[in-house]
Amino acid sequence: MIIARSILELRKALEVKKGSVGFVPTMGALHIGHRTLIDAARRENDTVVVSIFVNPTQFLPGEDLSKYPRREEADFKICELSGVDVLFYPDVSGMYGEDEVRICAPDLRGYILEGASRPGHFDGVLTVVMKLFNQVRPTRAYFGKKDAQQLALITQMVENFFMNVMIIPLDTVRESDGLALSSRNVYLDSIQRQEALKLSAALKKATEMVMRGEVESNAIEAQMRRILEPLEVEYVAIVNRAFQSLSQVVIGDTIVLVAARVGTTRLIDNVWM
Ligand code: PAF
Repeated sequence: MIIARSILELRKALEVKKGSVGFVPTMGALHIGHRTLIDAARRENDTVVVSIFVNPTQFLPGEDLSKYPRREEADFKICELSGVDVLFYPDVSGMYGEDEVRICAPDLRGYILEGASRPGHFDGVLTVVMKLFNQVRPTRAYFGKKDAQQLALITQMVENFFMNVMIIPLDTVRESDGLALSSRNVYLDSIQRQEALKLSAALKKATEMVMRGEVESNAIEAQMRRILEPLEVEYVAIVNRAFQSLSQVVIGDTIVLVAARVGTTRLIDNVWM
């Protein structure tokens, strides 16, 4: 595995590679969810590139960027053992300069749900993903469905800017008790980890209600909020794949989403129907 710490090193590593490039952008603290993305990239492409870059522009003032988990050595090992060809590990000065052009998230879809809780977050995500795509020039890029809104906005950016990359969404990976894997789970103590199960339990309830024929969003959201008590819920939402609010679940075009705080840790989860 080649570790490229600059765009020049990345270009050098990639210029000798032939065929398709599968790309998994990450912020490190890799877990089985990332492994699933890397494995898919490995199966479907000639070359696999993973980036690890804790992107400062997607953190809001007050969100503690310095506390984001960093595990360089373990992450490098995971990439190596997963058959990654090139690990792109740039530093902030290699990615950003002064007074730069930035990508703006769309006014509506970029500022609801996650975008309402974290205004400007998606500008940072889209800007760094655009930079990474232009550096890596992947054939396919792999993203988890857990960050559903991020996935929708990146897919939209690729369409709106006529970018030549296929976005491949993959299902959320869960612990055996239902907890969605997330780099933030490391912040949970054992009691909080139990509390965190309320998110997947609420989504399970939503699925059960729909399977029983209850499709009214209000009824489903009310039941979910009951299960989530006493967590500090940021939102429960039922939207279509274009992130428009739905008054009724439409099978094949619905995402049920939840964001809540467990202690000081903000968790998100969703289910696609
Ligand atoms: O999902 C993430 O880890 C990040 O938002 C991403 C896509 C790597 C951009 O920094």
